[in-house]
Amino acid sequence: MSEPAIESLFTEGRTFPPPQEFAAAAHVNDPSVYDQAEEDWQSWWEGHARQLRWMRDWDTTLEWTPPHAKWFVNGQLNVADNCLDRHIDAGHGGRVAFHWIGEPGDTRTLTYQELCDEVCKFANALKRLGVGKGDRVNIYLPMIPELPIAMLACARIGAIHSVVFAGFSSQALVNRIDDADSKVLITADGSYRKGNVVPLKEAADAAMGATDRVETCVVVQRTGNDVPWTQGRDHWYHEVTADCDAHAEPEPMDAEDVLYILYTSGTTGKPKGIVHTTGGYLTQVAATTKLVFDLKPESDVYWCAADIGWVTGHSYIVYGPLANGATSLLYEGAPDHPGKDRFWEIVETYKATILYTAPTAIRAFMKWGAELPAGHDLSSLRLLGSVGEPINPEAWMWYHQHIGGGRCPIVDTWWQTETGAIMITPLPGLTKAKPGSAMRAFPGIKAVVVDEQGKPVPPGGGGYLTLQRPWPAMLRTLWGDDPRYRQTYWSRYGEDVYFAGDGAKLDEDGHIWLLGRVDDVMNVSGHRISTTEVESALVDHPKVAEAAVTGRVDELTGQAIVAFVTLRGDEETSDALAAELREHVAQRIGKLARPANVLFTPDLPKTRSGKIMRRLLKDIAEGRELGDVTTLANADIVSQLAESSKGADE
Ligand code: WT7
Repeated sequence: MSEPAIESLFTEGRTFPPPQEFAAAAHVNDPSVYDQAEEDWQSWWEGHARQLRWMRDWDTTLEWTPPHAKWFVNGQLNVADNCLDRHIDAGHGGRVAFHWIGEPGDTRTLTYQELCDEVCKFANALKRLGVGKGDRVNIYLPMIPELPIAMLACARIGAIHSVVFAGFSSQALVNRIDDADSKVLITADGSYRKGNVVPLKEAADAAMGATDRVETCVVVQRTGNDVPWTQGRDHWYHEVTADCDAHAEPEPMDAEDVLYILYTSGTTGKPKGIVHTTGGYLTQVAATTKLVFDLKPESDVYWCAADIGWVTGHSYIVYGPLANGATSLLYEGAPDHPGKDRFWEIVETYKATILYTAPTAIRAFMKWGAELPAGHDLSSLRLLGSVGEPINPEAWMWYHQHIGGGRCPIVDTWWQTETGAIMITPLPGLTKAKPGSAMRAFPGIKAVVVDEQGKPVPPGGGGYLTLQRPWPAMLRTLWGDDPRYRQTYWSRYGEDVYFAGDGAKLDEDGHIWLLGRVDDVMNVSGHRISTTEVESALVDHPKVAEAAVTGRVDELTGQAIVAFVTLRGDEETSDALAAELREHVAQRIGKLARPANVLFTPDLPKTRSGKIMRRLLKDIAEGRELGDVTTLANADIVSQLAESSKGADE
């Protein structure tokens, strides 16, 4: 695992502009927060937990039996109650929770009162359909208001939601339904994608045909296309909610009851069901939304431009902003439809004040040209955020200048599906910003960069990122697989040290620079994709004998997927087959996992023990100078591969 190249992944050949002081305009945080939190980190979190509404107080702040944590033990609360009713009771029922913008240009505004009514109606509908506390509900919806409504309805009645990104294939949906053993699926007739209708219900039906677990399917009418229908199983959302009462008592939930499962890729072909619970999760997403974005619920118009199908959307579109009573934008479509200035038109129209997006999007905006944002009034923006992968300083500077008008602080936030909430980030008004650095651990968090032996590295050193203290929003286990939880995160340096899987370095000031994954996980457009998962999809094709997959640097998407494929017997290689294989992966996993390049090879470079040399493949894919390969069992294949990969870029 010791890859001397991890540092160069991000820093080689780049220039780093000097640190910038944040604009004084955003200035809210109490400068003593870091000290306060360090003095007594459990009390610090307790203080944030007290901002929420509890139905029963907790007895103990933290029970830590490494690697298992319980936060706010025996406390009771309801997440939907905290995200909705609490604000209505405080007199903010008329405040807008979401300004929703549909892809075709239709819009909908939901105040806290209206959102609460919708959530209660659907909660009552779910109850009538037999859904109860602890039941798993799969949600496969596009970015329409019914998505957060469905999540909050589950939270209100104590059902566990498992949201599957609507861009995932039906096969991916089947795996997630089976793993969580869900009896209920919530989907839509279709979703809009750049002017086309994607038949989502058809994909849902394919999934429901491949597993017999789903007894009830609720379908939101969004696109109006014809859909296959199974009487008795399928129900229209508008019909099941039509006569429902807009009042539903929130179920008192234990702080440690499961709020949701969200699947993410690991180093094997089987995705991991990350388990998040109620009290600690809500505490940390609420606290980070408030402090990292310097949120003023009464005046801000906050926009996290992620998809709710990923953890970013769970924590920073749904739970964090709503827990703070914020007004958010919710956008259904793509950034380049109908025009490549769609985002800027939205910022201008709604006078967005905070924008949180991913480096890959920023790089696309850069490519489309600074004239597009310049054509809109973006002066409402006062704070920008970045998440998903290391942001390259060029993109940071462009974002700062062309979107932030040179005046907005940028928060580069490091966290993971597993951490549930932001862990490493600057704080506006408190921390200097260095373009490309996530700077320092959020107050209360202990992030330590260690060497191979687990020893902290000194300033200037590089190594592996670890978290050495439990945190409220941490994952509690992997659904149905606690041994894998221990193995993946808590075995490398001991049971109380969380191994994040990221390389990191400390600069001379001790600030943290994330360098990318150190395992067999790729990061494409900020989305985690496992090499093994793509390989399994490829070898599942009848013509493929063997496949090895690696990520190569890509200017736009961070990494792009390169597949090295060996065909069976005397199958012929062709461009058509390469295209077919790329499509096959898209079918099996989803479009985001489609390899950018498929390279056919009669053999793969292997060690004498038969292990595929992925690092070598990565070097080949990135056109790097190759070292000594004579120790390989089949060294001759390497030069052939290196030759054939030239000019493989799309
Ligand atoms: C991985 C987690 C949680 C947000 C969406 C991705 C990378 C995330 C940053 C950042 C450098 C980052 C890491 C991490 N990552 N944010 N600001 N700087 N790297 O969630 O799919 O769970 O992926 O994304 O490699 O391990 P995820």
